[in-house]
Order: sequence, then C-alpha cells, then structure tokens
Amino acid sequence: MSLPGKTRRQSHHPLLLVNIGQLLTLRSSSADSGPRRGPALKELGIIEDAAVLCLGGKIVSVGKSKEALRDPWLKKNRRNVFEIDCERQVVLPGFVDSHTHPAFINPRLVDFEKRISGATYEEIAEAGGGIRSSVEAVRKARRSELAEKVLEALHEMAEQGTTTVEAKSGYGLTLESELKSLEAIRDAGAQWPGTIVSTLLGAHAVPKEFQSRPQDYVELVCKEMIPQVAKRKLAQFVDVFTDRGAFTAADTEKIFHAAQAHDLGVRAHVCQLTETRLQPLLRYQPASFDHLDHVDDEDIAALAQRNTVATLVPGANYFLGLEKFPPARRLIDAGVPVALASDFNPGSSPTPSMPFVLSLACTHMKMSSAETISAATINGAWALRLQDRKGSIEPGKDADLAVFEVEDYREVPYWFASNRCAFTVSNGVIAAPVGFDELKPTP
Ligand code: NIG
Ligand code: FE
Repeated sequence: MSLPGKTRRQSHHPLLLVNIGQLLTLRSSSADSGPRRGPALKELGIIEDAAVLCLGGKIVSVGKSKEALRDPWLKKNRRNVFEIDCERQVVLPGFVDSHTHPAFINPRLVDFEKRISGATYEEIAEAGGGIRSSVEAVRKARRSELAEKVLEALHEMAEQGTTTVEAKSGYGLTLESELKSLEAIRDAGAQWPGTIVSTLLGAHAVPKEFQSRPQDYVELVCKEMIPQVAKRKLAQFVDVFTDRGAFTAADTEKIFHAAQAHDLGVRAHVCQLTETRLQPLLRYQPASFDHLDHVDDEDIAALAQRNTVATLVPGANYFLGLEKFPPARRLIDAGVPVALASDFNPGSSPTPSMPFVLSLACTHMKMSSAETISAATINGAWALRLQDRKGSIEPGKDADLAVFEVEDYREVPYWFASNRCAFTVSNGVIAAPVGFDELKPTP
C-alpha cells in the first residue's frame, strides 16, 4: 500500500498494531506519583509479541498479539479494523519534544562559520549575531510564511518519531510579531496530526531598540505580551532566557509573576552559560528548567524534592562544539526528574531529531538507552504537564506511537544520523515519511 502525501487519516476506523516485537509501554507503576526519577527511569514496561488497539484517537487496549486476536469484540469487528503487521519491530510512545523554537525564517550560517573559526556563542551574540540576528526576518515575514516554516519542522520531527512538540515564539520581540509567531505555530499545528503546546518566549533577548532600557522591555513582556497572549489563548506557558546577556533572575521573577496572574504555566532556560540560583524561582512551580549545564549541588537537592523537570538539550552542546554536556548523571543519581528535548532552533541546535538527542545522551552524558527513552516520552509529557494524555502506551491515553524498524529498543539511540523510524501514529492518525510504502494492512 502506498501512502498519499505525508499522512493518511484513519481516525474513523479502529487501528490495530499487531506482531510488535517489543512494545515499550512506559506504563505507570503504583509507586509513580510524579515524573520518573532514579531507577524508575529504566523501567520501560516492555511487552514482547504485543498488540495495541486504538479507537477515536485513543488507546483502548494493550496486550499480547495472541490475546488481542482472540478478543471476541475484535473477532466480530475485524473487517472494520485497519490492521498493521509490525513484523516484530519496536513500538514506543511517540516522542514528546518538550523544548523547540521553530518560529524562525533563516538558518544562521554566519554564526555557524564564525564558531568554526573559534568564536563562542556569547561572542557572536555580542557582535550582532545570535538571537537578535534572526529577528528582522521574522518581523518582516507574513504569518503564513512563518507557519509554513513551522509546519516543515513539525513534519521533519514526526518523520523521526515525534508526536508532541512544545513550540516557542521568541524571534519577533515586539508585541505584534510575538503574537504573529504564536498564531503561526497554531496555524501549523492545525495542519499537523500531532499535538502542539505553545509557549510565549518574548523574554528571549532584549531587542536592539530597548538595549539602553531593558527594564522597559521586561515591562512590555509583563504588561502587554502576557495579557494579550492569555486573552487570545495563544500559549499555555511563558518561558524566559535567564542568563548572562539575556534576563536576570529578578526579571524572571517579574515575568513569572505576571504569567501566573494570567493563569499561564512557567518554564525557563537556566544555567546554560552561567549559574543562576534556582531555589527562589521554584516557588512559581515551573513545569521545567531547561539546559542546566551549570547547576550546583544545593539546587540539585532542591530539584530532587519537586516535580519541576530538568530538561536537558545536548543538541545545543553538540552544535556549539562544547566539550562539556549537561550533568545528567549527577541529576539522575540525586533523584531529579530528567527529560530530553531537541531545542530545535537556528542558533544552537538545528536538529529535529529526537533519536540523535538520545544518542548524544548515551554517548556524552552516560544515560542508559532505557533512561533516554523515559526522558524523551513520559518525562517530556510531565515537562508539558500532559502526563495524563501523553508519554506512555496505556488504555485511555492518546494514540501516539512511534514504530521503529529495529529489533531491539537499544538500537533507537545506537544508530545515529540514520532514521529508523518507519512511521508514527498521532492522535490515531498514521503519519509516514514521503515515499514510505512499506505499510501493509492485513486484508
Ligand atoms: O535554547 N538559549 C537560548 N535560546 C536558544 C538559542 C536560540 C538561538 O540561538 O537562536 C537555546 O539554545
Ligand atoms: Fe531553547
């Protein structure tokens, strides 16, 4: 069977995946009361020779293939069921990429070349490159042009197994262009079968016109952007880039305070370039702190007591050519819940690939294959506060699955720069790469 275009809609028919070699359910255990920590990160809840039945965009049953095929309801309704033989491949929950910046127009090739010649991320930003150099094109772009770029990125992510994406604004830095970016994200999301969570990142950088009065820009974020975004329901979260050269911890508190007053969740980029004290920010109950390259033991101990997820984005370390990677072992061994995300953006991490991020986490952060899978699924869902719908394959959850052409789940991070994802199911809809024609429904 060949698939027309990139997606084939199957939401009206029950969908049955059978003959799955390893089904990574990530099912919860009675001990779970928050995101996965410590040894629980290694528990994938694997079922061999498995089947999954989906209906109306939800998972309705999960079990052994043999039992599924003996099910009286299924026997009676088999003719109406769209059945896929997974040929003993691996099926896992679709990746939840909980940190991306897809609302931009151009790659930043000047920055790329400068870094190759030895300049650092901060030096490039100070010399007029960096985040600010992506702003002009976004301000000039039509909303439809921006939506097209976002949609392109979403399709590329889905081709590598991602079914839920958190997407930030942050390259407009005016009220109008931040709203336009969030509308573009919403427009793109409406054309994509997966799930989008939107985040206002007005506080990504202080724009040039506010350089001499950064506090006025913080006011603009708090008093105009946040209220407008909340009123138009354009985002679920507000994010801040809290670091040297961006926003201070005091600015972050102001912005978090305004976000909460408008019922928006909060999250922040922290400790990427320099250390920021995290404990004062914890009282805003951020859903996640992201990057965390420079975090101290006291803050690690505080994070271990909370449900704020530490979202690690090693794609940025790789692309910036850094020797040091996020301290995953210190965090996990101390009991901090860890997620992995792509940080897809034009400056520090232009990759849509979660399998590549998992690979980096194994080779450079010494996470085990199993730990990386929990971090990219159930803990990603927690980082977006979507744990009741996403991140595991259990009855009642959204039908979000990724099928990989491998025999053993450890091959997902093992093969790198090689896409082994055969297809995904997002909210019950099958999405396959262009030209993929291996999907054979059983007659
Ligand atoms: O997560 N650190 C801030 N934001 C992005 C980089 C954005 C950019 O350089 O365009 C990050 O790495
Ligand atoms: Fe980021």
